[in-house]
Amino acid sequence: MTGSGPLIELRDIGLEVTSPVRTRILHPVTLEIRRGTVVAVIGPSGAGKTTLASIIGALQPPSEGSYRFDGREVLDRTRNQLARFRADHLGFVFQSSHLIEERSALDNVALGIVDPAVTRADGLARGLAALAHVGLDQIAGRRAADLSGGERHRVAIARALVKEPSLVIADEPTAALDQATGREILDLLGSVVDRGATVLIVSHDQRATDRADQVIRIVDGRFFGEGTTENTAEQR
Ligand SMILES: Nc1ncnc2c1ncn2[C@@H]1O[C@H](COP(=O)(O)OP(=O)(O)OP(=O)(O)O)[C@@H](O)[C@H]1O
Ligand SMILES: [Mg+2]
Repeated sequence: MTGSGPLIELRDIGLEVTSPVRTRILHPVTLEIRRGTVVAVIGPSGAGKTTLASIIGALQPPSEGSYRFDGREVLDRTRNQLARFRADHLGFVFQSSHLIEERSALDNVALGIVDPAVTRADGLARGLAALAHVGLDQIAGRRAADLSGGERHRVAIARALVKEPSLVIADEPTAALDQATGREILDLLGSVVDRGATVLIVSHDQRATDRADQVIRIVDGRFFGEGTTENTAEQR
């Protein structure tokens, strides 16, 4: 990642679905995300937070607008190119951790490396380093099934970090965690920028804004917050 402009530039990105009925999910928004920053996407349930994250994560196309990542348009790419883009540049941390229960914490993290040129030994070494970053190197050999909820979140974060993505997208990373553990996970995600990454934290938890450099608020698919502009002409 060598560019000097914003990491992410959304121009008039919006989403309207037509089935079963025509519904506007996201009103067109223009926003930029700078490199090496923590961005919190905040809003009530059903606001459109996950939808925005899945557009930025190239998991779902918007119905309009342009999306540049590191200066290059994303939306004109083929499915294979998008899969490659996600594998090369993005790390995802989802609400449910999706770990392979019978495999060790370390194996689960090493599985985050998708580059076939990385040997298994190298993958395990990098996995162990990522586990150390989240404070879990001592239990690298423990089966995922035996981990606590907080530990599972940490393993999921380590798995997202192990390929050194330029963007980490975490959707509700504090869900189902107690206050203290939720705080630890947010701090941990905030520290990811020290490794040069940009972090997008999606949450209805106001605490996610504490360490954020930029806060994007969404209510009913409408945007509020620093650096966001709604295209009012498009609003209905
Ligand atoms: N493909 C789709 N077709 C129809 N409706 C959709 C589609 N995708 C999302 N929605 C609707 O858009 C709204 C926003 O959904 P989204 O998952 O982005 O909300 P959210 O802010 O992440 O909520 P939560 O905090 O509950 O996770 C919801 O009402 C959802 O049902
Ligand atoms: Mg959501």
